[in-house]
Amino acid sequence: MNASEALLEAAARVIPGGVNTCRRRSEPRLCFRRGSGAYLEDLDGRSFIDYHAAYGAILLGHSHPAVTARVASAIEQTVLFGVGVTESEVALAEKIVEHVPSVEQVVVCNSGSEATYHAIRLARGVTGREKLIKFQGCYDGFHDYVLRNVLSRPEGVGARDPHSAGMLEAAVDATLVCRYNDLEDVRATLERHGEEVAAIIVEPVAHNSPGLLPRPGFLEGLRELCDATGALLIFDEVITGFRHHIGGYQAVCGVLPDLTTMGKAIANGFPLAAIGGRREYLERLNTTADGDVHFGGTYNGNAAAVEAGLATIAQLEDGTVHEHIFALGERMRSGLAEVADRVGVPAVVGGFGSLFVLCFMDGPLETYEDVLRNDDALFGRYRRELVARGVFEMPESLGRSHIGASHTTEDIDRSLEAAEDALRAAVDALARA
Ligand SMILES: Cc1ncc(COP(=O)(O)O)c(C=O)c1O
Repeated sequence: MNASEALLEAAARVIPGGVNTCRRRSEPRLCFRRGSGAYLEDLDGRSFIDYHAAYGAILLGHSHPAVTARVASAIEQTVLFGVGVTESEVALAEKIVEHVPSVEQVVVCNSGSEATYHAIRLARGVTGREKLIKFQGCYDGFHDYVLRNVLSRPEGVGARDPHSAGMLEAAVDATLVCRYNDLEDVRATLERHGEEVAAIIVEPVAHNSPGLLPRPGFLEGLRELCDATGALLIFDEVITGFRHHIGGYQAVCGVLPDLTTMGKAIANGFPLAAIGGRREYLERLNTTADGDVHFGGTYNGNAAAVEAGLATIAQLEDGTVHEHIFALGERMRSGLAEVADRVGVPAVVGGFGSLFVLCFMDGPLETYEDVLRNDDALFGRYRRELVARGVFEMPESLGRSHIGASHTTEDIDRSLEAAEDALRAAVDALARA
């Protein structure tokens, strides 16, 4: 048994399953003791180029010195006061308002799930309506409002598919599910329920599916349908926020939502999330004297998260990080397509900007039904072969991979060599099985 397996076994005595988030259980079983830049070191001292990036929370690189130094210095005098506001909280809000086109005001919390929860309740408060539209294959957090029809099996698509025991039935039924990239489906749903729908929540790029880009006109169409029916448009930019642009994907696509949720990359691994949007909506929060929509959270605006957010923004403002990671993303996606071609495996490379995912199927990759054609067995085996070659992409079905500022061209080229080797090994292994 290696050191990771031993730790996970010890952990399982006191932590159910040995991990603190369901998707941290992986095969091979790995635990890491150090992250530095683009690299991770496991408990046995083996080094990996990391593309998991803690599900995308790491954008600048692990333990980025500008971020950790700023956090370390700030927390000597400030951790959390729980009253009023700090200068840094104001500075952070000013920066988000400056950069994210639709955001006039913003509040912060600690996780993406909190952010989507608050945004949805705010939309319900503003509209006085209860129903919500989400999309099949999108993940918008762990709470009952949105935890249905996530990565559904084929039989769950088009059906009522709650993702957990213990969910409130009424919450599941208040959430209507449409097909991502299918405007007609949204239009038909709104024709049936238009008066009842408080909001449409959408990952502007459906990275949880993974890698579905919005078809031209899809996001614009959602904007028009919301305007026509009085529903609010919520962009769930928990993955795309800061990762695709310091202004979020909305700054790339030019479609402005009413509310935006952000998390993950905005503080390079520290627990910061945000809900932003039009002033008239945000001022309904009971952080104002007259607000009637509850907004609370003991840890909101804690110094570690806020300083990490400010340090991350400072690294992103001149645009060079995005230039770098987009160029590496292109190199990786086109390189992977060539690898699959050389090995002779039908494949589509999904993703955008710094994100990529190699799916084993014929194209197109535009809808959730397309995603279901992926060869799961090959995908899982390929990822495990990659890990064995020192490239860490999450060895789970359909996990997206992330490039960050600390990856280099050499890292990408070395990873592509490993990818070719891994894919040949995976194909051979499955042919022998
Ligand atoms: C698009 C999206 N929204 C919301 C969430 C929830 O964020 P958190 O895990 O920080 O609660 C996630 C997490 O993966 C996500 O990908």
